[in-house]
Amino acid sequence: MEIVLSGIRSTGNLHLGNYYGAVRNFVKMQHNYNCYFFIADLHSLTTHPKPGDWKANVKQILCEYLAAGIDPEVATIYVQSDIPEIAELYLILNMLAYKGELERTTSFKDKVRQNPDNVNAGLLTYPVLMAADILIHRANKVPVGKDQEQHLEMTRNFASRFNNMYGNDFFPLPTAFNFGSDLIKIPGLDGTGKMGKSDGNGIYLADDAKTVEKKVMRAVTDSGPTHKGQKMPEPIRNIFTILEVVSEPDVVKYFKEQYHECTIRYGDLKKQLAKDINLSIDPIRERIKQYLSDDAYLRKVTKMGQEKARESAIKTLKGVREIIGITGF
Ligand code: TYM
Repeated sequence: MEIVLSGIRSTGNLHLGNYYGAVRNFVKMQHNYNCYFFIADLHSLTTHPKPGDWKANVKQILCEYLAAGIDPEVATIYVQSDIPEIAELYLILNMLAYKGELERTTSFKDKVRQNPDNVNAGLLTYPVLMAADILIHRANKVPVGKDQEQHLEMTRNFASRFNNMYGNDFFPLPTAFNFGSDLIKIPGLDGTGKMGKSDGNGIYLADDAKTVEKKVMRAVTDSGPTHKGQKMPEPIRNIFTILEVVSEPDVVKYFKEQYHECTIRYGDLKKQLAKDINLSIDPIRERIKQYLSDDAYLRKVTKMGQEKARESAIKTLKGVREIIGITGF
């Protein structure tokens, strides 16, 4: 059975981009593949979170995973730092990653621009840790949003370098996966760019209905189309992109026609969008609250996940050590 893996950084709550870009796909895949879902708490150390915040951050994401429909009896859900083998594979893969290619990574260049005072080596080698996450289970498919495409390409490069260097095909070359469709990019509501955890432009699964409504009503628009068939500018296209994800096709068709006929009222469009977002996240929001109050269950889930994930990780690392020639005396 093919192996699927995906992860979410434990920085900030899940937003619509995470949900529609990645999590919803995991949920659909869990019954047909051997699925691993993990919380990337080590990745979040690049931003130096306070020690006291670890539990709340990991717990929130875990509850959101569960609330979104990932079933720990079917899939393996675990916390990255519970699997020490990932750190060892990261070290080994670092020997196959070149400084130049890491410096050219788009996400690294973005981070350097945003935080010039904290350009640490963990940020530079972030894609290598991601590759270790994926290769530790020799995963084939990785459901992610469009923003992770380059990281997946780098993972394939590291994996094939390893295979070539040691003359084998130990690691499969994993691909970014979205059921045969293009990878998704959910935009923010601030006019340009993607919805991001640190960009202050997100709608979160844990937001209450009123907050969702307020955020949507504040979305950037313009003064409206002035001639029939006018091309949509980015902020309006972004609203439609989210509408296409959360609303029924006839709703999208209706508002598109209104736009093209220049009769659209953005207030109505936003009300509809807020209503449909709320409809899609209502049940998830309720379940998040239930899981948050059940620490005993969360402990059971992470322990079970750790055991299953370590079994696979130990096997892979044993293979890697043998291939490299670290065989002991
Ligand atoms: P993170 O936590 O930023 O995002 C988690 C997942 O959500 C997707 N995503 C989006 N999809 C569509 N539109 C958006 N606006 C949007 N924003 C986020 C991301 O593509 C991702 O699939 N480095 C990763 C976490 C990670 C990981 C891995 C993922 C660590 N190791 C191994 C896959 C495999 C990250 O920071 O994702």
